[in-house]
Amino acid sequence: MGNPDLEKVKERMRTLRREIDEHNYRYHVLDQPLIDDQTFDHLMRELQELEQTYPELQDPDSPTMRVGGEPLSAFEPLDHKVAMLGLDNAFNEQELHDFDARVRRLSGLESLEYLCELKMDGLAVSLQYEEGVFMRGATRGDGYTGEDITQNLRTIRQIPLQLPEPVTLEVRGEVYINKAAFEQLNRQREDQGLPLFANPRNAAAGSVRQLDPRLAGARPLRIFVYGLGEHSLNKSTQKELLDYLHKLHFPVNANYEVCSGPGEAWDYCLKWQDKRYELPYETDGVVIKVNRLNLQQSLGFTARSPRWAIAFKYPPEEKNTRVIDIRVNVGRTGAITPVAILEPVTLSGTTVQRASLHNEDFIDAKDIMIGDIVSVHKAGEIIPEILGVLKEKRTGEERAFTMPRSCPSCGSETHRLGGEAALRCLNPTCPAQLVEKLVHFASRRAMDIEGLGPAVAEMLFREGLVKDVGDLYYLRPEQLVGLERMAEKSAANLIEAIRKSRENPLRRLMFGLGINFVGEKAARLFAEKFGHLDLLRQASEEELTAIPEIGPKIAEAVVSFFGMPETGPVLDKLKQAGVNFYEPASSEQAEAAAILAGKTFVFSGALEEFTRDQAADLVEERGGKVASSVSKKTDYLVAGEDPGSKLEKARNLGVEILDETGFKEVLKG
Ligand code: IVH
Repeated sequence: MGNPDLEKVKERMRTLRREIDEHNYRYHVLDQPLIDDQTFDHLMRELQELEQTYPELQDPDSPTMRVGGEPLSAFEPLDHKVAMLGLDNAFNEQELHDFDARVRRLSGLESLEYLCELKMDGLAVSLQYEEGVFMRGATRGDGYTGEDITQNLRTIRQIPLQLPEPVTLEVRGEVYINKAAFEQLNRQREDQGLPLFANPRNAAAGSVRQLDPRLAGARPLRIFVYGLGEHSLNKSTQKELLDYLHKLHFPVNANYEVCSGPGEAWDYCLKWQDKRYELPYETDGVVIKVNRLNLQQSLGFTARSPRWAIAFKYPPEEKNTRVIDIRVNVGRTGAITPVAILEPVTLSGTTVQRASLHNEDFIDAKDIMIGDIVSVHKAGEIIPEILGVLKEKRTGEERAFTMPRSCPSCGSETHRLGGEAALRCLNPTCPAQLVEKLVHFASRRAMDIEGLGPAVAEMLFREGLVKDVGDLYYLRPEQLVGLERMAEKSAANLIEAIRKSRENPLRRLMFGLGINFVGEKAARLFAEKFGHLDLLRQASEEELTAIPEIGPKIAEAVVSFFGMPETGPVLDKLKQAGVNFYEPASSEQAEAAAILAGKTFVFSGALEEFTRDQAADLVEERGGKVASSVSKKTDYLVAGEDPGSKLEKARNLGVEILDETGFKEVLKG
């Protein structure tokens, strides 16, 4: 028996890891959390602190290790002991019956039971567990050798690092991204000026193959497991296997069904044909597997695929329709985007009537004309997109479209700035841009002003009631009543919604201002770091880029926004109207705040690492006070270079004196 205290610490760490794993599982796999986020964060923090204090007790399978380690320069190859093959496809009912006939002939059985599963559209991965511990994971690669992506897989909260049983086995599954998370990811990338992912599958594949695991960890990756690689389990059916994998804490898609033959399997395919659009993730088909595992084994594989399974692929949802017109939209940053107006078609469960044409280059590359018959699909089942023109259907009546030389809203000349694909209206007082800015400001993720959509924003602007977001807060009910679709009640509701929006935290206001490249995430980081808009608007590019996730492009956009002559008056109007400029401290900050509550600091002499203001901020963020002169009430005198007479006085009064290192220690609490 070693040091009894150390034994206690070990025991506590074991308990914490077990509890955190369990809560992770309940939250990420079962979707049935037992505790709130804050309580979870507390457990996590306690474990992190113990691991920092006792680095010798660190464990690679600790839930704290999901954050991702150092970036790699390349992935190592990893051989698959059991090949990761693809599946043969069936495209219609007949091909499904052909598959069944083949299996019956090879097995000599008259009828067979199948297990039907949804085919997830993501990226195949293999996960190796040794005695219940996650060891390694790989991509499929060429089927025989994949890439070792263990570090990235660890960041996926749904993947158990430790199984409830000490089994050694290799599990196969599909990593994917939910449709909503994909949209959010792309919005974030758009805000940051990064290239967009074409669909959730590409986003998942790109994320899994990120060399920096911290970046991979920030992506909303998920997984479903559906089978095994090398193993020594003894299950009798695919259904039993899936149930067992579920019991081992793996996420297993619950929509599988046992089918008595190819007829029922086909019914399953039909049942999900439209229903799949209601799922939060993308599926591109159904996988039909022989249910009995000993039969799977005896049927074996061809060079390319298993003989015991087939994938029914839904026909790609691609339809032809006519481009009735091409119109342009002026966005809030002045970008002029061409949009195709389409004859309505149903795609992936909804009616599509518009598709963005992005920019002039896109139209040129696809050679799209007004009147053309085009094929359309939904990228990622979400975003309508024109795939191409059916040129053989042209009649000669089609008209070419040219981007406008002047802004359709304000008439000022349009420009294509060096290197940009977008055509822009550069007039900062362009009505279309101002209306879009209002709409963005009021949108749900920004100031969340209900009732202030595009039509109302347009009208307020047209009537001369609102020229910028600041004016919203000075609207009076009598100005609204009588306007289009504005009865007394709706006018009162709108005014109330605007009034209520004043209480939003700074992060929402910052996002709502619509600064180039500042999405929700950057807005939150700025708000948390600076705490008040007045501090944020004075920040230099260096101070902004001191936030790890903020790059020079965003920082420059922020500084230039606050430096524009139009900005000051708008912010003054907001402030005068009582719009909140503060970001309330997060629970983490609030906890940090408690550390120095009731303590008074006096600074004397220059510090090396901080300016006086920064040092004062650090004290105040933690609930402490800064005074200019030493008295009996002073708790600490922080003495820098050349401290002067305050040091003398502090000594005489018996005030505790800190050098810069001591000061930093006190800040840590
Ligand atoms: S079983 C031996 N089941 O589809 C191969 N695959 O085209 C056994 N996939 O590489 C694969 N959902 O990436 C299976 N429920 C499911 C699946 C599934 C998606 C993917 C997987 C595989 C590809 C085959």
